[in-house]
Amino acid sequence: MDYSKWLGKRIGVWRLDRLVRTGGRALIFRAERVEGEYAQTVVVKMPKPGVPGWEIERERDYLQQLRSSPYFPRLFEGGVLENSQTPFIVMEHIRGERIDVFADERGLDIPKRLDLFKQLCQAIDYLHKQSIGHLDLKPANVLVTLDGSVKLIDFGTACRLDELHCTSDSDLLTLEYASPERVGDGQQLALSADVYGATSILFLLLTGRTPLQLSEREPECRIRALREEDPPPASQAAFAASSKDWRIARFRRAAPDVLREQLRGNLDELIAIGLAKTLTQRYATGSLLLESVSRVCEGKPPRKVTGRLGVGVIDMSDKQQLWAVAASLVLLSMLAAFFVHSLASLSTTRSRQQRAAFLPILREQAEWWRTMLRPALATDSRLIEELRTLDEVISRTEAETGGRP
Ligand SMILES: Nc1ncnc2c1ncn2[C@@H]1O[C@H](COP(=O)(O)OP(=O)(O)O)[C@@H](O)[C@H]1O
Ligand SMILES: [Mg+2]
Repeated sequence: MDYSKWLGKRIGVWRLDRLVRTGGRALIFRAERVEGEYAQTVVVKMPKPGVPGWEIERERDYLQQLRSSPYFPRLFEGGVLENSQTPFIVMEHIRGERIDVFADERGLDIPKRLDLFKQLCQAIDYLHKQSIGHLDLKPANVLVTLDGSVKLIDFGTACRLDELHCTSDSDLLTLEYASPERVGDGQQLALSADVYGATSILFLLLTGRTPLQLSEREPECRIRALREEDPPPASQAAFAASSKDWRIARFRRAAPDVLREQLRGNLDELIAIGLAKTLTQRYATGSLLLESVSRVCEGKPPRKVTGRLGVGVIDMSDKQQLWAVAASLVLLSMLAAFFVHSLASLSTTRSRQQRAAFLPILREQAEWWRTMLRPALATDSRLIEELRTLDEVISRTEAETGGRP
């Protein structure tokens, strides 16, 4: 479709000057202030025809919520176009480059690339502490300004923690940076999807390649590879000393074998945790990823993940999250009590009819728990496990009894 008809048009005090991008689900224009005493360049974003307006309205609300952090574009205005009721947002125009392009153009070495990545982790940490998941982390959505400040953009698919189950249309995902649970069958979505996306960006920054190099494979093999295949350690991803490897290494101010040595050990370990297929084995939040990257920058080994509530899943050093731990511990003990009761009822009610009669109650209660625990489920791998066990008990009883009294 030809969007150039928009150019020169006015929206409020802004005149649309240039179409920045028409891909994805939005139209992005650069615009100039044409009223008032001063000049100002901004970016105007609106949905493409056919894309629901609420996506832009939601993005507006997130940017407003994030306004006091330097890691996100500032929101100047939100409104609807006269005549069409199409919503639009006006935000800060970020003069900069994609993070990978920025790093390559300046020939940043590995420590400088890690510094850049740490800023991205700080942005994600801030976002997660506001209970928002970005869910579309990829280099095109991470800009770096001329003075080296990282800005995270594009909240078109972002989601609040208590709604995290809602998205996951694999057609809309950039598979190279999407976590495996996004293409799984009805799997739980958690903030750690952002940890996976961010770690994929780190992999690219360090090795010049994405973890699974999916775009070089046949389209029909990609989803399966994402679900099943473990990426190679970053230190082995490349650097076999082909001409491409020499070029990648040159951008990082090293020879291929030196680069391999720089990545071996702590960085390989950190990346393996950030890209873990199983939620319980991956850092659960941006805060944990940030802490681990900071440790590696200081020459220490990355933080381990225990896969259990507490260390490795929720950051105990953070007061706000300490409350979350306390709250989920209470919920957890209630859940455990409910469990013992349910399992006891199942094994003591001996007849097949009685066990089958108990099934609807069990199913109902499982649903109730799932609803009650939804906010905690996003960060708490143990609760996810407990509910899975409950599902298994229900399925087993269904199989044994034929599901009917
Ligand atoms: N505030 C901004 N400042 C500068 N460039 C921007 C800004 N917002 C978006 N862009 C550019 O437009 C592209 C698409 O914008 P984005 O918000 O990511 O929309 P989409 O949902 O289409 O991916 C970005 O990758 C970036 O190049
Ligand atoms: Mg985008």
